[in-house]
Amino acid sequence: MDDGAKNMDDSIELLRDAERQGISTVFATPHVLEGLYEPTPKEIRNAFRNLKAKIGEEGINIKLFQGAEIAVGFEIKPEIVTQYSMNGGKHILIELPFVAYPLNCEKEIFWFQSQGLIPIIAHPERAFSIQKEPDKLKEWKRRGVLVQINSKSILGRYNKTVKKVVINLLKQGIVDFVATDTHNKEWGFDFAEVRPLLEKLVGRPKTDELLGQNAQRLLLSE
Ligand SMILES: [Fe+2]
Repeated sequence: MDDGAKNMDDSIELLRDAERQGISTVFATPHVLEGLYEPTPKEIRNAFRNLKAKIGEEGINIKLFQGAEIAVGFEIKPEIVTQYSMNGGKHILIELPFVAYPLNCEKEIFWFQSQGLIPIIAHPERAFSIQKEPDKLKEWKRRGVLVQINSKSILGRYNKTVKKVVINLLKQGIVDFVATDTHNKEWGFDFAEVRPLLEKLVGRPKTDELLGQNAQRLLLSE
């Protein structure tokens, strides 16, 4: 649907790898980005159903849940907003602009709250605005926003700044979820790789929360 898996075979191969790594549950979060990727909820739902059916046929032991990653700037009508949320529940994954920081950015994030949803900010460590002003994230957290970082940021796959910022966020204890942001084989599931680094940084119990338990709680709270 976007810059992720190119076709069904790709998706299946990725999910087999996830299974091998002991991952039990995956959220599929296709990009929704103005002017570039604008799938309708129906298109997301259909693709999701096809993939889920294929997982069953192939006997892959992964629970798949539907979601989306909404880029700030994409306008959604209130009546369909939950069709983009995580498993149709109250959490919604939001991507900040990487470089520019539009004035209405915060307004848009908190618009989702006004719709009764809980925004989860995807990989804030990659956004220039947060790199410059990480305290902004603390303030958002106080206002009920959740924070998801990428395993690849901890593994140093982007650059040194991203890694430095993400380690600080972890040390400050403001991270709720660690995601893989898997797009393709080269940019795949890397929980097995990131686990020892995370354990060193935040300890084992917190690592378990960040890699799975918090996401499990999210599903239960729906
Ligand atoms: Fe993203």
